[in-house]
Parts: sequence; structure tokens; C-alpha cells
Amino acid sequence: MNRYLAAAALLGLVICGTAQGQECAQVIEGNDLIQWNASEIRVSAECEEVTINLVHTGQLAANVMGHNWVLTTTADYMPLATVAAAAGPPEYLPADDPRTIVATGMIGGGEETSVTFSLSGLEPGGDYTYFCSFPGHYVLMNGKFIIE
Ligand code: CO
Repeated sequence: MNRYLAAAALLGLVICGTAQGQECAQVIEGNDLIQWNASEIRVSAECEEVTINLVHTGQLAANVMGHNWVLTTTADYMPLATVAAAAGPPEYLPADDPRTIVATGMIGGGEETSVTFSLSGLEPGGDYTYFCSFPGHYVLMNGKFIIE
């Protein structure tokens, strides 16, 4: 191996190590236009715990433009999203529903929250969806949660 290849290999290791560390803690933003800033979140299966930091970059209050981050299987996503509105404010999510893998609280513009959870019960390569359970938001605010 010549010195250029050695340097490239070392650089690759450094970049991969950094990326893997960052994958375990992720930031996702919701705005006043009922949008996420990302349509998927990728985490490494090697993460012992994953932290999702939810940032509401808008200005509207939680009772009119609330956002939370709810993780579920893709199969459960629509059924859960459908009953979520009926659960009522402020969380718009049925308590202790087994279809909810994990969820943050509901926040309004300018607020932040986070949730930390283990991947131990989840399958790498499994089909998971995250969404906001505020009434109607799931239609626009949904994305794939990918464990790789
Ligand atoms: Co929302």
C-alpha cells in the first residue's frame, strides 16, 4: 500500500467513525407549514441508545401547530394516526397504546424536546415510520425510520 492509499484509508476510518457517532443522536425539525425537514432518519444498529431531538422551528403555539415525534411500525402508522386525533389535546396520542414504540411530548413553535430509547426491541432493516400525531399532520409529517 502506498502512502496515498494509507492516508485515504485512515481518512475513511475517521469519517466513518464520526458519522456513526452522530447517527445515534439526531435532530429533526418541524415548522409552521406542517413539514419535517427530513423524510427519513437513519441510525446505526450498533447504537445502544438513540436520541431524537425534536425542534419546532415555527412560531405557532402547540394548540394550533403542535408537533411531536411518534415512532411506530409502518403497518401500525395509519391505524394509530387515525385514532390519535380522538385521544384529544394536548398530546393527541392514546396513552399506553402498544403501537407507539416511543414518542416525545407535543411542543409549539420555538420549543424543543427529545426522547432517548433503546434499539434492543427493534429490528435492523425493519419497516418503521415516524409521524406527528397532531390532528391531520400525519398526512404531511411522516418519514421512514431506518435501522442499518
Ligand atoms: Co405536527
